Amino acid sequence: MTDTDADRELRVSKIRNGTVIDHLAAGQALNVLALLGIDGSGGESVSIGMNVPSDKLATKDIVKVEDRELSQSEVDVLAVISPEATINIVREYEVIEKKRIDRPEAVSGVLACPNRNCITNADEPVETRFAVLDDGLRCEYCGEIVREDEIATHLDVA
Ligand code: CTP
Ligand code: ZN
Repeated sequence: MTDTDADRELRVSKIRNGTVIDHLAAGQALNVLALLGIDGSGGESVSIGMNVPSDKLATKDIVKVEDRELSQSEVDVLAVISPEATINIVREYEVIEKKRIDRPEAVSGVLACPNRNCITNADEPVETRFAVLDDGLRCEYCGEIVREDEIATHLDVA
């Protein structure tokens, strides 16, 4: 790596412990924060890069969260909204694990069903579950379709 490249890398500084969600499709960083339930009020240390230059994509978004790992449900939703994303687990400044994410067959929890009459919105202890289609998700209880570009607005971030 040349000095110039290293300088560019410093656009968003390295983290000590936590998760770096890299190669996000440009425009997805804020959706990822919503997915993780992060709005700053919890005191998490978070760095965000939006539309930063990337080797693999024209531009990318990147989200770095200190002291946090993602649950499988969060990874599953991430796989749907940004399939090219990579998840890097960092310990003591080193990347100790690099996860490529696979498009899941279904997504449980995390998303709310937009159908108000759906049993998952009634006063019942039923976790949401959506089948993953080519261009969206289908509620496994009521059949309601959530288009891929609508997913961010149905994040169940209570
Ligand atoms: N990173 C970080 N803090 C660290 C270590 C890494 O923020 N302590 C970030 C890097 O800036 C990079 C990502 O985590 O955005 C992955 O790091 P690394 O595997 O070292 O980079 P690359 O080899 O370029 O990764 P890839 O091949 O996935 O592009
Ligand atoms: Zn439903």
